[in-house]
Amino acid sequence: MTHEYTEYTARVPETGATEIPEPGAVTIVVPTFNESQNVRQLLHQITASVPARLPCEVVFVDDSTDDTPDVIRDAAKDCPFPVTVLHREQPVGGLGGAVVEGMKAAGSDWIVVMDGDCQHPPSLVPELVATGERTGAGLVVASRYIKGGSRAGLAGSYRVAVSRAATWLTKALFPRRLHGISDPMSGFFAIRRSAVTADVLKPLGYKILLELAVRSRPRTVTEVPFVFQDRYAGESKSTAQEGVRFLRHLAGLRTASPVARMVGFGLIGLSGFVPNLLGLYALTAAGVHYVPAEILANQLGVGWNFYLIEHLLFRDRRDHRRWWDRLGRFALLANADLVLRIPLIALLVHRFGMSALPATALALVTTFVLRFVGTEALVYLPRRGMRGSRRTAARRAV
Ligand code: GDD
Ligand code: MN
Repeated sequence: MTHEYTEYTARVPETGATEIPEPGAVTIVVPTFNESQNVRQLLHQITASVPARLPCEVVFVDDSTDDTPDVIRDAAKDCPFPVTVLHREQPVGGLGGAVVEGMKAAGSDWIVVMDGDCQHPPSLVPELVATGERTGAGLVVASRYIKGGSRAGLAGSYRVAVSRAATWLTKALFPRRLHGISDPMSGFFAIRRSAVTADVLKPLGYKILLELAVRSRPRTVTEVPFVFQDRYAGESKSTAQEGVRFLRHLAGLRTASPVARMVGFGLIGLSGFVPNLLGLYALTAAGVHYVPAEILANQLGVGWNFYLIEHLLFRDRRDHRRWWDRLGRFALLANADLVLRIPLIALLVHRFGMSALPATALALVTTFVLRFVGTEALVYLPRRGMRGSRRTAARRAV
């Protein structure tokens, strides 16, 4: 979507027509959001430590509301390498979305992603690329959590605890894909351009490395330790809202395959027993007859399941029906499941001669699978002809 950018190329390389540096060079992609006090220092540090060891160009992808692009343009005059600013009119996907746009604009074999606030030392850029070349890896992560690394600049014990919990949760959810990555939250890494499959990425917020590791799946990954520095100026742009976005991002990544979605559906269904039983307890304690109490309490479980499924499993498949339409269909399927189970068990016992326990188990599994397939197909499957328009509309709305 190049038309949405304001693009400034501060310097065209002497070799001529294009901005593409020679092979073996690196494109440094820097996402920026209101970093006018930092970008000059960053370019200064890059100038001091990169071009003498490795030809480079720098691409800023900027969503600022301040004068960051102007400061970059001005500072770029002193840089012995090309500097480009892509200013986005709409900050789609936040930090991660910005990084992907920068990667698409890159022309060199290697891309290094780093923050614009000098927390990531540019002197490590040539080493990240050299390590990748030497080991043949597709992805080289600068890690705070291996020997020689540290998170010195992570301000406050609260941030440290949150970061550690997020790392633990993420590694637990993706044990295989993140094997060999001690710091999946790092915002500093080198990746081969050929390993970036931009069209399958759905970046959402800060954790772009996680997105790449899980969806682009570079074949080999290695790590280099680094010391996370203090911010040069200003404050972190991360907010509590960014934390919520991160959880949504995790849920989206984890439920990308139908099998994983079915497991999630089952786990959510199991969790629904809690409100169901609590409701039953409260209603019968209040003197309601157990049959209407069962029916009402079951609706509590259905509501609970619907809420979780909407937010964790089908978050981006909701636009084609109104919420009450989805809730109605979902509730109908859930209740049909209950109503169908008894005759199904009877059928299995009387017609097929099964005994009660295996018949019940088989009926439970059958109605569960039917309900999952039914929910996908009847509640959350975009209607014919709506896929494209829905997606474009969603993109515009972000
Ligand atoms: N284009 C763009 N759009 N850039 C953004 C946006 C955005 O919406 N939000 C933040 N940035 C830029 C900032 O301007 C900065 O250059 C960089 O992304 C990192 O943002 P910070 O706000 O400084 O992040 P942080 O220091 O809290 O977190 C960093 O370290 C974490 C490790 O603890 C990031 O690298 C995280 O990805 C990383 O997990
Ligand atoms: Mn920072």
